[in-house]
Amino acid sequence: MDHFLYRDGVLHAEDVPVADIAAEVGTPFYVYSTATLLRHFRLFDEALEGMDHLVCYAMKANSNQAVLRTLAEAGAGMDVVSGGEYRRARAAGVPGDRIVFSGVGKTADEIRIALEGGIRQFNVESEPEMILLDFIAREMGVRAPITIRVNPDVDAKTHAKIATGKSENKFGIPIARARDVYRMAAEMPGLEIIGVDVHIGSQLTELAPYELAYQKVAELTEQLRADGHTITRLDLGGGLGIPYERTNADPPLPSDYGALVKRTLGHLGCEIEIEPGRLIAGNAGLMVTQVIYVKSGEGRDFLILDGAMNDLIRPAMYDAYHDIIPVVEPEPGFEPHPYDIVGPVCESGDTFAKQRPMPPLKAGELVAFRSAGAYGAVMSSEYNSRPLIPEVLVKDDQFAVIRPRPTFDEMINRDTIPEWL
Ligand code: LLP
Repeated sequence: MDHFLYRDGVLHAEDVPVADIAAEVGTPFYVYSTATLLRHFRLFDEALEGMDHLVCYAMKANSNQAVLRTLAEAGAGMDVVSGGEYRRARAAGVPGDRIVFSGVGKTADEIRIALEGGIRQFNVESEPEMILLDFIAREMGVRAPITIRVNPDVDAKTHAKIATGKSENKFGIPIARARDVYRMAAEMPGLEIIGVDVHIGSQLTELAPYELAYQKVAELTEQLRADGHTITRLDLGGGLGIPYERTNADPPLPSDYGALVKRTLGHLGCEIEIEPGRLIAGNAGLMVTQVIYVKSGEGRDFLILDGAMNDLIRPAMYDAYHDIIPVVEPEPGFEPHPYDIVGPVCESGDTFAKQRPMPPLKAGELVAFRSAGAYGAVMSSEYNSRPLIPEVLVKDDQFAVIRPRPTFDEMINRDTIPEWL
């Protein structure tokens, strides 16, 4: 459920007509709903009720500081994967002890920043990372709290580019080797083992892969305890999918997921951390663009929008489906017309949808891409020298620009021409 609904024939973001934002900000832009962000965070929080837990929002999905502040004020922690994300979370007011650091390639500088600024835990992904972390922590005279990310070799049944839990993926330590690696970690004075971490992929639409992975984590936890390690925290990753396309087979709900966590891991008495990104931010955002031209091609019509693959790369990169709806509600009983929906960027990959049935549309009309709040703005670029797309946050009847569109001068003046040229 989200808070983008037609009212009096016009699409609203909470209580704000989307067209009002377009008039003030210009198109294209992203708009996020505070109520939807909070609703989705709370669904997870409530799903884990009864277990000691922290929902660490995977901020890679949408890292605007206004979004982070909204969630942090509701009690969220953050999952970060770079020094930049760590700094951004801190700048948004998130305390270090609510930040977990994931990622396969943490650099020495990133490790230092987090140890200096405070960190809840590092999710360690390899032996060389463990050695570096131990070295830096000892150099600083501290002990780094760690979990070790294990790769359970489970097929998450999702798009190949976002599956992470199979043995051929670069993530985590093979679960079969985990006990040896924990033994190694226990001998390193700069490290403090606190738990186990697992994340098997993104946009999961079934619970079965989680069940398999969490059973393996439960078994491992018992073995590690028998080996003498203190395991008090389990980080279970993120990945629960959202319904991009309205079908009868919607992905499971956070409450179903919470019940699964309790069933598979509840008996261990560990503190539970989860790292959802997409399910919190995805349906909390729209990308709004304008039709520039309606062009007739050879046997097909194109809707050419002012939003492009540089603004929303998911369709080009993952063949992702996004619902595209007109901002002015179509008349009931309209005759749908198939369009290829494209942006102005000079490559054929700049196609959002092919032969998508839409109400008839004209130049100047606004359309909104649904489920664009996660992995939308964060993956945008200035390809084709198109200034970075702005972001807007709505709360009830208020809206604010939370990242302005750079002016052409700001964009161009970021380059410097060497004096010898
Ligand atoms: N934790 C870890 C360690 C992750 O790598 C990820 C996502 C998450 C949590 C959050 O997963 P989520 O709940 O958002 O599914 N750009 C792609 C998605 C990449 C996901 C990468 N890792 C897309 O647009 O679909």
